[in-house]
Amino acid sequence: MRIENTFGIKAEAREVITYDSEEALRRAIVRIHEAYEGLPLLHIGQGSNLLFLSDFDGIVLKSDIKGLTVQQETDDEVLVEVGSGEVCDEFIDKAIQRGWYGMENLSLIPGQVGAAAVQNIGAYGVEAQDVIDEVVGISLKDGSQRIWKRQDCQYGYRQSIFKGDLWGRYAITRVIFRLKKHFEPKLQYGGLVKAIAEAGFTKDTLTARQLRQVIIDIRRAKLPDPKEQGNAGSFFKNPVVPKDLAEQLMSQYPTMPHYPANEGNVKLAAGWLIEQAGWKGKSLGPAAVHDRQALVLVNKGGASGNDILRLCEAIKKDVEARFGIELEPEVNFI
Ligand code: EPU
Repeated sequence: MRIENTFGIKAEAREVITYDSEEALRRAIVRIHEAYEGLPLLHIGQGSNLLFLSDFDGIVLKSDIKGLTVQQETDDEVLVEVGSGEVCDEFIDKAIQRGWYGMENLSLIPGQVGAAAVQNIGAYGVEAQDVIDEVVGISLKDGSQRIWKRQDCQYGYRQSIFKGDLWGRYAITRVIFRLKKHFEPKLQYGGLVKAIAEAGFTKDTLTARQLRQVIIDIRRAKLPDPKEQGNAGSFFKNPVVPKDLAEQLMSQYPTMPHYPANEGNVKLAAGWLIEQAGWKGKSLGPAAVHDRQALVLVNKGGASGNDILRLCEAIKKDVEARFGIELEPEVNFI
C-alpha cells in the first residue's frame, strides 16, 4: 500500500492502518502482532517530515483520532485535549475562533497534532512545547497507556523523548494543550513587527486572527506548497555551534545571521549557509533547492528518495568544506 508523504515520493508498505480511537489502535496492535510477527512498525502523521529512501517492509500506522474536549477552564486559561489525528493548522484556527490563544505563530505548519508533539514543531519564536501540557500515548508493544507531563517529554529544538529514547515505541493518541484566554502576541522573531505594519495592522490593536494571517502570508511567500511541489519544509536543522567557531565565522562574514542558543552556544541559519555555498535555486537531477528558502529541498517531479539524498549529501559536503559545519537533516530518513 502506498504511503502518503508530502515529498511526493513513491513508497509502499505491507499495510497502512488508520485508527480512529484508542480501542481501534489496540485491536490493530493485537492483529499486527499475530499477522506480522517481527515486522517493523512505523507511525506517521501526514508524512510531512519524512524522506523514504526505499519501500518500507513493515506496517505503517496513522492516527485519525479527532476531537477537542475542554478538560479545565479558568478566566485566564483553558486545558484542551485534542485527538492526535486533528490537522494542527485546523486546530489553531478553531482555537482562535473560540478565544484560545498561544499557537498563532505556528499557523500553516503542515502535519497533525500528534506529530507536532513528537517533533516539537516551531516557527516565528514559538514551539509546540510552549503550549503542550501533557501527551498521551499507547504502547505499540502491549497497548498500555502512558501519560507524559510536558517536563518529562525532554523537549528541545525539534527534539523530544518520542523522537529520542522512545522512538518507535508509542503511538501518540491525544495531546493536552494549555492555551491562554487573553491574547498576548509573541513578536520577538526578527521581521515580524515590520511584517505586521506592512500588512496594515497596528501592533497595539493586533488580534490573534490578524497575527495568524501575517504568519500565513510570510510562509506562503517563502515556503513551497507541498500540493504544488513536493517538500518536507526545512530539510536541515539550524546548526548549533560553539561560541568560538561562531565568532570566527562572524568576523569573516559580518552579515551572517546568528542567534543565542543553549549553554552559551550559537545557532546559525542553515538557509544562509546553503545560499552562501551557492546552492539556492540549484538542481541535481529531479531534486532542487527552493529558490526562495535554501533550507527547503523540493521534488521537481518524479524524484526518488535517493535523488533527494544525493542533493542533501552534495550540500552537506560543500557547507562543510566552506564553513567547517556539519549540517544535520531535520527530516527523518526511512
Ligand atoms: N536565509 C538566507 N537564505 C535562505 C534562507 C534563509 O540567507 O535561503 C537567512 C534569512 O535571511 C534569515 C535567516 O537565514 O536571516 C533565517 O531564515 P528564516 O527566518 O527564513 O528561518 P529559518 O531559520 O531558515 C526556521 C525554521 C522554520 C521556521 C522559520 C521561522 C528550522 C530548521 N526551520 O527556518 O521551520 O518556519 O525558522 O521561525 O528551524 C520547518 O521546520 O520545516 C520550518 C519551515
